[in-house]
Amino acid sequence: MKSTHQSLQNKPTNLEVRPPKTKKEWNDYYYLRWKVLRSNFSDNIVSAKDEIEDESFHIIAINTNLKILGVGRIHELDKETSQIRYMAVEQESRNNNIGTLILKSLISHAIEKKNKQIILHARDNAINFYLKNGFKLRQKTHILFGEVQHYLMKITL
Ligand SMILES: CC(C)(COP(=O)(O)OP(=O)(O)OC[C@H]1O[C@@H](n2cnc3c(N)ncnc32)[C@H](O)[C@@H]1OP(=O)(O)O)[C@@H](O)C(=O)NCCC(=O)NCCS
Repeated sequence: MKSTHQSLQNKPTNLEVRPPKTKKEWNDYYYLRWKVLRSNFSDNIVSAKDEIEDESFHIIAINTNLKILGVGRIHELDKETSQIRYMAVEQESRNNNIGTLILKSLISHAIEKKNKQIILHARDNAINFYLKNGFKLRQKTHILFGEVQHYLMKITL
């Protein structure tokens, strides 16, 4: 696996990458997830949640003004495998390495849990992002809301 050295060098200043803590941070976390990933399809913020939020590990990238710029989540499927879901960065904050920092943090969590691999279902616009971060493309999977093709990707830890 690639080291986090490069991503830490490129870390935008004044940014913390960590789990949400306060009630406001949790609300902002779910709001950004819904805004980026679901608002084109549903007005209901619940559409951007599933039934395993409580047992999952969540990461935010938050600036000194306490604005959340990016989010991501990982959960264990079994002792060997975790799945990343709901990666999202504010439109105007993209291409600043924030997504990479969140991804590295989620990967570190899986390594701490002694998982052997991580899988995810990527939208086609995000495939390059995951390839650059060490994931391999496997196969086409589901189509979300009848239009967003997803692709199974996997990294061995
Ligand atoms: C996918 C996503 C999370 C990536 O977040 P991000 O913060 O933009 O990611 P990074 O900045 O770490 O890297 C993204 C790209 O910017 C490039 N980049 C990073 N820093 C850069 C810089 N200083 N200058 C130019 N490009 C840069 C990276 O090389 C990478 O290239 P790519 O477009 O070929 O993949 C974000 O684009 C997003 O939220 N997309 C919409 C929602 C989505 O599709 N989520 C994934 C669901 S599977």
